[in-house]
Amino acid sequence: MMDNIHISETSKIQAIALAEDFHKMALEYLKSQNEIYIALSGGNTPKLFFNELADFQDHIPWDKIHIFWSDERCVPPDDEDSNYRMTKRYLFDKIDIPSSNIHRILGEAEPELEEKRYSDEISQNIKFKNGWPVFDWIMLGLGEDGHIASLFPGSDVLGETKAISVVAQHPKSGQRRISLTLPVLNHAKRITYLVSGSSKAQIIRDIYSNNEDHMDVPAARVHPIAGIIDWYLDKDAAADLI
Ligand code: 6PG
Repeated sequence: MMDNIHISETSKIQAIALAEDFHKMALEYLKSQNEIYIALSGGNTPKLFFNELADFQDHIPWDKIHIFWSDERCVPPDDEDSNYRMTKRYLFDKIDIPSSNIHRILGEAEPELEEKRYSDEISQNIKFKNGWPVFDWIMLGLGEDGHIASLFPGSDVLGETKAISVVAQHPKSGQRRISLTLPVLNHAKRITYLVSGSSKAQIIRDIYSNNEDHMDVPAARVHPIAGIIDWYLDKDAAADLI
């Protein structure tokens, strides 16, 4: 269930390690393709990583990297809840990336319409294989309840088998979200989980130990068909594994 696990002493060291590996991965991809298509996750955990990416000394070929999101809250881009706003503040404002490479989910739009528009934008930009768009790299966070992107436990959109993205809803706040679907995640070449903090230790342990009670959590359904999953954990999140 959890193969490639990278445990770092602190979340800062974790962020540096992932930034270094992201750089290596990007250069490797560019040996055989001209552009790289990735999806970023939102929330709080990515902030340190984005800071390290922005400050990365060696050249990152941002002009060849197209950025999508695993999910976005249905709020305007300047709303404090916006994953785009967070990414702009911690990454885009500090790097030189063509605006045409940033494929923002329009959180301000009517969700049902935006879900279709975002799915079309993915279809127009990303190569398909076996009927699904294949991202080169998808970054995921992990909720304490085992949710990924905006696919929450018990939600009906978890079982979506045809659409590229869905309109989801946060179970507590009711906030509507646009999220990639499980089949898209499972068709990615590489998935990277970035998880930090002691609040995630139990869900990490449950997923690592294949705890039957948690087998229904969304994260337990992520099995890239031909892809690789890496887990970047800080010591606090991995506390129950070591
Ligand atoms: C979002 C994220 C979500 C996040 C987890 C973990 O839009 O909130 O995509 O899936 O990765 O909820 O969030 P934290 O990093 O804030 O713990």
